[in-house]
This record gives sequence, C-alpha cells and structure tokens, in this order.
Amino acid sequence: MAPTIVVTGASRGLGAAMVRKLLTSPISANVVAIARTEAPLKALCDEFPGQVAYLTGDVSRDELNSEAIKLAVSKFGGIDGIIFNAAILDPIDPLVKADATAWRKLYDINFFSMLPALKEAIPHLKESKGKVVFISSGATHHYFYGWGAYGSSKAATDHLSATLAAEEPEIFSFSLDPGVMDTSMQVHIRDTGSSGMSSSEHDRFLKLKSESQLSPPEVPGGVAVNLVLDGPMNLSGKALRFTDEQLAKYKD
Ligand SMILES: NC(=O)c1ccc[n+]([C@@H]2O[C@H](COP(=O)([O-])OP(=O)(O)OC[C@H]3O[C@@H](n4cnc5c(N)ncnc54)[C@H](OP(=O)(O)O)[C@@H]3O)[C@@H](O)[C@H]2O)c1
Repeated sequence: MAPTIVVTGASRGLGAAMVRKLLTSPISANVVAIARTEAPLKALCDEFPGQVAYLTGDVSRDELNSEAIKLAVSKFGGIDGIIFNAAILDPIDPLVKADATAWRKLYDINFFSMLPALKEAIPHLKESKGKVVFISSGATHHYFYGWGAYGSSKAATDHLSATLAAEEPEIFSFSLDPGVMDTSMQVHIRDTGSSGMSSSEHDRFLKLKSESQLSPPEVPGGVAVNLVLDGPMNLSGKALRFTDEQLAKYKD
C-alpha cells in the first residue's frame, strides 16, 4: 500500500523537491502538503490526482498542524511519516539588536509549529511504525554572526527529534542537515543578509553561489525522502548532515 507522508513548507525549494520525489513512481506516495502559497500545491493535485491533499496557511497557527495530521488519516486512512521542513531565517541581527517579538515569531514557525502535529500524530505513527524527519541546519553548531534566532531554533529542533526518539522507541526520528542549497532562502541571504551578517560570512554565501557550490535541493531531498520511508532504528535520535557516511546508502 502507498505510504502517506505529511510535508510542511511544500510550495518551493527543498519541500517541493521532496514532495515531487514522494509522489512520483516508483514511490507514488500519498502526500499531505502545507504552505501559505496555494498555486504550487493545487498544481500538484492536478498533476497527481488522488495522491495529494493540502492545507494552505501559516504553520504558526497550531490548529493547521493538527488538522494536517487529521486530514492524512481521514483522506488516506493513516499516516506513515512527517517531514518537518517549513522554516524562516529572519530576524538576522546580532544579540545587541535582538527583537524578542521577531525571535518569538521565528520560533512559532521553526519550532512550536511541530508540537501540535506531533501530539496528534504520535498515536498513529506508533501504530504504523512511522518515521519523522526534521530538517535542521549546519547553523546548529556553526555560529554565524546575526543568526542566533535561526541557529538556536534548529538546535532546539535537533533536541526535539532526539526527545521523540527517546520517548517513542517505535517511531524513527531523525534530524537532517541538508547543507547549503540553491533555493529562495539562499536568495534571501544574498539579497538582504548584508545588513545583519558579518561581511566576511555574507561574502562567503555570495561566493558559494557564484562558484556554483550550492546543492540542488533534490540531492539532500532524496536523502530525506529515503529516510522518511526506510530510516533504520539504529540511526533514530541522531542529527547528521546529508553527506555523512552513515547516510551513504540513503543517497539516490
Ligand atoms: N537553503 C539552504 O541553504 C538551507 C540550509 C540549511 C537548512 N535549510 C533548511 O531547509 C528547509 C527548507 O529550506 P528552503 O531553502 O527550501 O527554504 P525556502 O525556499 O525559503 O522554502 C521554505 C518553505 O517553507 C514554507 N514556509 C515558510 N514560512 C512558512 C509559514 N509561516 N507557514 C507555512 N509555510 C511556511 C514556504 O512556503 P510559503 O512561503 O508558501 O508559505 C516554503 O515552501 C528549512 O527548514 C531550512 O531551514 C536550508
């Protein structure tokens, strides 16, 4: 039977790449997709009839996240996995200028949005021996100037993943650092990062693009999809970069 996977932040970038791989043969999964932008999600429904259900809205609204799990169960009869991918980078500013309201907004999207989904999904995931992949970042342990809000939210995400693994041994839980990818998040860093970042770190991101060193999102996305379908329990609770040799067999 086709697996049913919930993916947040499915409208572009890494999320869109993972959803496309999940929907396409030979996986041909059912997908519940979430994002604020409706057009790309509606286009997926038309391209993959019967395989896609979607919710549009801001993941900082708790109910949206629990509704996505309920939708997976009501439309497809259960849930086999979740990929928590939706995230924002702003505010980019050093601590001396920190705006607690902006940090809270980021945390609502990058971190707290996952709690209502997990609460709703855990009983179903225990039943299906399901899997959860959290999309993390190298910014958990590389301290970019001005990236405190984003980096700390991703470090909290790694901890949340490890907590799920410890509390629910029947559920595979994994935090994946997808590396630096050629998506609109990188466009945002290049276009707006110069004001809050150090110039040397901002220049590094400009150089990564000009030297074509950004990964296509399909590459780490392929690892995330293979893990949400087949992740082994001996890796549950870990947080690794997609290039780690322990993940070699999960690359396409
Ligand atoms: N790009 C990189 O180099 C890089 C590096 C390390 C980690 N990551 C991580 O990889 C993941 C994907 O990043 P990306 O580069 O693909 O980013 P992206 O191109 O900016 O896409 C972000 C996705 O999240 C959705 N999203 C953002 N805020 C949302 C909200 N409030 N409610 C619902 N959906 C929301 C966006 O959809 P809508 O705008 O339509 O809502 C979009 O589908 C993120 O977790 C990011 O932190 C990225």
